Amino acid sequence: MKITFLGGGNMAAALIGGMLERGFAAGDIQVVELGADARERLSGRFGVRAVESFDAAALACDVVLLAVKPQQMKAALAPLAGRLSGQLVISIAAGLRVADLGRWLGAGAAPYARIVRCMPNTPALIGAGVTGLYADPSVDAAGREAAGAILSAVGSVVWVGDEAAIDGVTAVSGSGPAYVFHFIEALEAAGRALGFDEAAARRLALDTVLGAARLAASSDEPPGVLRERVTSKGGTTEAALASLAAAGWHDELVAAVKAAAERGRELGEQLGKD
Ligand SMILES: NC(=O)c1ccc[n+]([C@@H]2O[C@H](COP(=O)([O-])OP(=O)(O)OC[C@H]3O[C@@H](n4cnc5c(N)ncnc54)[C@H](OP(=O)(O)O)[C@@H]3O)[C@@H](O)[C@H]2O)c1
Repeated sequence: MKITFLGGGNMAAALIGGMLERGFAAGDIQVVELGADARERLSGRFGVRAVESFDAAALACDVVLLAVKPQQMKAALAPLAGRLSGQLVISIAAGLRVADLGRWLGAGAAPYARIVRCMPNTPALIGAGVTGLYADPSVDAAGREAAGAILSAVGSVVWVGDEAAIDGVTAVSGSGPAYVFHFIEALEAAGRALGFDEAAARRLALDTVLGAARLAASSDEPPGVLRERVTSKGGTTEAALASLAAAGWHDELVAAVKAAAERGRELGEQLGKD
């Protein structure tokens, strides 16, 4: 499978690194990237071909992976419009919808259809991401398999059946690392308030989140059952959880994530204008 990336920044580098580790060949990967320094870095680090614009070799691929910033996408796709001939297009750009990408890539009035839209998250940069994927109905099983294999190089994948659900993925796992960082900050602040120095408070908070997440991931039980198991009647954990419940913490978090999904929908509308 030959893949050409459009944009060779952080996410493209993370994906290429992960793909090479999983047995993709450097000779099958090309990058179209405007920045000369970035091109040099990519070819030096990964041994892939990096060029400034789409030439015949860059177009001779099975997959075009769109990895420029959402605000850069329309301009970046203009030189490609009407030049694709059946390649699978995978977009990792936040917010941009399949219909808008298809319109920008299409020839004349006919939109380009063979598009998979994905939403990875920042832990992808260390190979520990999770990506939500949506495929236009025109994408066949082989296309879905190819997209799944590429995004699996930087973590796990979850397919969704309708495009609107990508706004939900954005809200839960796309923005999710920030919620977790915020939780770690708060747990660290609590440790500081209880007299620990900064280093000890951070270690206690960070390793608790890391360990609890690994335990939850390796357990057959849902997180709620694991929580109940460490909550003895009249104990310390019960006191903390009762305080969180009284503050409406759970419902607040659900409302916050719903607000993120709504914002994602609004941004998608704005980004796809014209
Ligand atoms: N970072 C994440 O964790 C994350 C998570 C989910 C989704 N995403 C999505 O992934 C995409 C890439 O994000 P990123 O963090 O990798 O961005 P990035 O580091 O800015 O990479 C984008 C690269 O594309 C280059 N570029 C811009 N216009 C171009 C054009 N017309 N032709 C060729 N190259 C062009 C940019 O060059 P200049 O720097 O010179 O502009 C830059 O090197 C975004 O759409 C983002 O929404 C990222």
